[in-house]
Amino acid sequence: MNKTVVISGASSGIGFTTAEFLHKKGYNVIGLSRKYPVEKYDFKYLLCDITKDADVDKFVDTLGKMIDQVDVLINCAGMGVSGAIEYSSIEEAKKIFDVNVFGQIRLTKNLMPLIRKSKNARIINIGSVAGEIVIPFQTFYSMTKAAVSIFSEGLRIELAPFNIQVTTVLPGDIKTNFTKNREMPNVIEDDIYKDRIKKSLARMAKDEEQGMHALVVTKVIFKLINKKTLPVAKTVGFQYKLFVLLKRILPKRLVSYVVKKMYG
Ligand SMILES: NC(=O)c1ccc[n+]([C@@H]2O[C@H](COP(=O)([O-])OP(=O)(O)OC[C@H]3O[C@@H](n4cnc5c(N)ncnc54)[C@H](OP(=O)(O)O)[C@@H]3O)[C@@H](O)[C@H]2O)c1
Repeated sequence: MNKTVVISGASSGIGFTTAEFLHKKGYNVIGLSRKYPVEKYDFKYLLCDITKDADVDKFVDTLGKMIDQVDVLINCAGMGVSGAIEYSSIEEAKKIFDVNVFGQIRLTKNLMPLIRKSKNARIINIGSVAGEIVIPFQTFYSMTKAAVSIFSEGLRIELAPFNIQVTTVLPGDIKTNFTKNREMPNVIEDDIYKDRIKKSLARMAKDEEQGMHALVVTKVIFKLINKKTLPVAKTVGFQYKLFVLLKRILPKRLVSYVVKKMYG
């Protein structure tokens, strides 16, 4: 029987590339997000805003009529927001947490009855290297991605006795619509911060635009789907693996200094 894979955020970028790839490999793929993909696609699609209880309830209801079980859930939907903490509103912070953290939790919780029906289920959450190494002027984004890693780690232990494996994939810079879709701050330049916010964002946007192809992440996900035992987390790309390792072993002050030089 073909495995059923549910992918949030499948309308573009990593989610879209992964959905198409897995569909071509013969998986029964159901993508979801607020809008249908712009590019031509061959997998099944349902509209769902993961920040809305009613949407997710309806999605799970419809899905339950289409399939018997969910073998793989890929929580890929996400957004970015930038700006200085000082000039960002609590509403902006709540909005990104609503999508990147609570949306992911909501979808996972609601799909659990279908996930439990699979004999060897996997939940693959898309975090970010930015959740390991904070990016200034995108601190809320980094906070959400750190939360995704912690959510995954806790869930992994809780679900282990039920043969449901959980992991987090940590991509580095990937060339997708993410850069274009990132919400910009209300105050981009101001007298106090001078050009630091603008420069930091320009550097991040350049890194992403010169980043890896989404397919690199897709291939890592594909391997994880077929791996017997999932790691707690998987960083994508040699350079980023090195960054994460250095972050763990170097003195925090040195890491903070280097990040400030790069993005501060
Ligand atoms: N690009 C990078 O450099 C990078 C690096 C590390 C991690 N990531 C992570 O990778 C994931 C995918 O990002 P991407 O680069 O592929 O960006 P993307 O092309 O902008 O895709 C984001 C996806 O999330 C969906 N989405 C956003 N809000 C949603 C909501 N409320 N409900 C349902 N779906 C929603 C969007 O679809 P709709 O607009 O149709 O809702 C879209 O399909 C994100 O979690 C991101 O944080 C990206």
